[in-house]
Amino acid sequence: MGSNLAILAAVAFCFSVSNLVFYGHAIESVMYTLVRSESDYEIRLYREVSWMSALVRETSFEKSTKDGFQRIHQYIHGANINSSQLPMTAPVLTSVITSSPRTLYYVKLFLSKGNPPEPNPELNLQLETWNAQCMAIRKFSGFAKDDNVKKEMEALVTSLTKHPTGNTVLDYNISYTIAQYNSSHHTSGRLNEVWIDVSGFNMEGCLPKQGKY
Ligand SMILES: *[C@@H]1O[C@H](CO)[C@@H](O)[C@H](O)[C@H]1NC(C)=O
Ligand SMILES: *[C@@H]1O[C@H](CO)[C@@H](O)[C@H](O)[C@H]1NC(C)=O
Ligand SMILES: *[C@@H]1O[C@H](CO)[C@@H](O)[C@H](O)[C@H]1NC(C)=O
Repeated sequence: MGSNLAILAAVAFCFSVSNLVFYGHAIESVMYTLVRSESDYEIRLYREVSWMSALVRETSFEKSTKDGFQRIHQYIHGANINSSQLPMTAPVLTSVITSSPRTLYYVKLFLSKGNPPEPNPELNLQLETWNAQCMAIRKFSGFAKDDNVKKEMEALVTSLTKHPTGNTVLDYNISYTIAQYNSSHHTSGRLNEVWIDVSGFNMEGCLPKQGKY
C-alpha cells in the first residue's frame, strides 16, 4: 500500500513537471480538431470556447503580454467575486489588433470550467466567448518577441497564399494571435504559434454549421 502510494506520487509528480506552464501548474489545453496538416501550417477547428481577456494599451507585444497576463494571473489566484482558485490553462494568447489608429493587444486565458466567477472590477477583464471557428496555425520555437511575431505571421500568410484554401481574403492586417505554451522559465524547447482566423474559408471541415459543434 505504502509503496503503491509512493509510485502514484512519483507518477503525479512527473506528470506535473512535464506540463509546467507559467508559474508551474499542471495545465489543461484548449481542444481542437485537426482539419488539415501541411509541412508549414495546420488548419484546426476549435469548438466554442470561453476566454478571460485583458485589453492592454501598451506599446509593445512583450510589454502587453506581460501586463495582461499579470491581471489574468491575479484573477485565477482569487481576485474574483468568489475568491476562487482557477486552473492555469494553455496556451496564453495575445491577439494583436492593428486596424485602429493604434495597435491594441488582448491577452487571453482559456476557461476550462463553465460558469467562471466574475473578475474583480479593478482588473478590468472581460469574458469572451468564441463560436466554433477554423484557425490557420504556424508553429515556431524560442521566445515570442516584438521582433519575430510579425515575421511569423507573414510567413503563415505566405504559406496560405501558396496553398489556396478557399475564396476568402485573409484579414491578417486586422488581427492575428500569438499562442504561447511555456513558462518564461523555460529557455529551450519552447512552443509558440501564430493563429489566423480562417473560418470564412470555404473548406471542408470548416464550413460553419450552426449548432453542430
Ligand atoms: C460563487 O459562490 C456562490 C456561493 O458560495 C455559489 O453559489 C456560486 O456558484 C459561485 N459561483 C461561481 C461562478 O463559482
Ligand atoms: C495589408 O497592409 C499592407 C500595408 O499597409 C498593404 O500593402 C496590403 O495590401 C494589405 N493587405 C490586405 C490583405 O489587406
Ligand atoms: C512547451 O509546451 C509544449 C506544449 O504544451 C510542450 O510540448 C513542451 O514540452 C513544453 N516545453 C518545455 C520546455 O516544457
